[in-house]
Amino acid sequence: MGKRVHNFNAGPAALPLPVLEQIREEFLDFQGTGMSVIEISHRSKQFDAVLNEAVQRTKRLLKLGDDFHVLFIQGGASLQFAMVPMNLALDGKPADYIHSGNWANNAIKEAKLIGKNVRVIATSEDRNFSYMPTEFQVDKDASYLHITSNETIRGTQWTQFPKVHVPLVGDMSSDFMSRPFDARPFGLIYAGAQKNVGPSGSAVVIIRKDMIERVPANLPTMLKYTTFAEKNSLYNTPACFVIYVINLVLKWLEEKIGGLEAIERINCEKAKILYDFMDQSGFYRGTAEKESRSFMNIPFRLSSEELESKFVAEATKAGLAGLKGHRSVGGCRASIYNATGIDAVKDLVSFMADFQKKEG
Ligand SMILES: Cc1ncc(COP(=O)(O)O)c(C=O)c1O
Repeated sequence: MGKRVHNFNAGPAALPLPVLEQIREEFLDFQGTGMSVIEISHRSKQFDAVLNEAVQRTKRLLKLGDDFHVLFIQGGASLQFAMVPMNLALDGKPADYIHSGNWANNAIKEAKLIGKNVRVIATSEDRNFSYMPTEFQVDKDASYLHITSNETIRGTQWTQFPKVHVPLVGDMSSDFMSRPFDARPFGLIYAGAQKNVGPSGSAVVIIRKDMIERVPANLPTMLKYTTFAEKNSLYNTPACFVIYVINLVLKWLEEKIGGLEAIERINCEKAKILYDFMDQSGFYRGTAEKESRSFMNIPFRLSSEELESKFVAEATKAGLAGLKGHRSVGGCRASIYNATGIDAVKDLVSFMADFQKKEG
């Protein structure tokens, strides 16, 4: 087997090694079936147990009451940009959005595309999306307020979610399961699985039961939350492998790490190591404002694009993968999701220090 590297990819991203090993271990014969998990029926008792376990683990980790459904919906987080307004925007009432960067923008675009009354009530465009807006007024009549809990590209994150009188809808793709939070003000939470909890292609969707009543009857079957809620995500053939891996990652999070409080401590420690180093370096410049800094995605610049390319190339050679910034903004970015350990961050910082000595 080739050597595994430290993985700083933004998504698809690092998964816990014990999870990958278990997948390999049981791949050819899943639980005595003589078949792999991607060859058995999605209606078999083995897969049913996997799906229900994934739902229960999500509920336990997030301390969700019985008033929430946990759904697995194909199409990734991008499909949720459309499903949210289709299902939850009430007739004649505005849908409020906070525009905090590229991903929020995609959510806004989709809601407008299907003709909803979208109000962008705050934006951080004035300072190049380097912070999370805190000044805004939500119409008490709004269908919901949509926020992006962590902007993967700009590396900004809400530290405290806004307190409003309408249901919150959160795109938590890039910080899902990285910290505990109170889910009760959220009418809906969605997260593309491929950052903190599994492979790409599906979203975990958590919907509060009162929101289900809003779903219009005349939507296509596969675009209605009711279809997924009524059939426990088994109306059609779900993304079986994705759900299976999510369950293993959540098991790792619960049993090996000790849950969300524990992973939050680890994530804060990792981010602090990297930010503290960058701040004192005078060589690496973080692009997000301090109060809004993400502890999942850490973008930074060097003095020239040439030097950035050299940095990424040499880091890759040194076994530090995925440090190139998003193509829309350039620069460098270290994504340090749950499965990227403290050792990886320490090795990165030590590489950064050496590179600075050589080039600074
Ligand atoms: C915050 C956020 N939202 C949405 C998406 C889109 O996810 P998907 O590719 O699963 O559609 C991403 C992907 O990187 C993201 O980071």
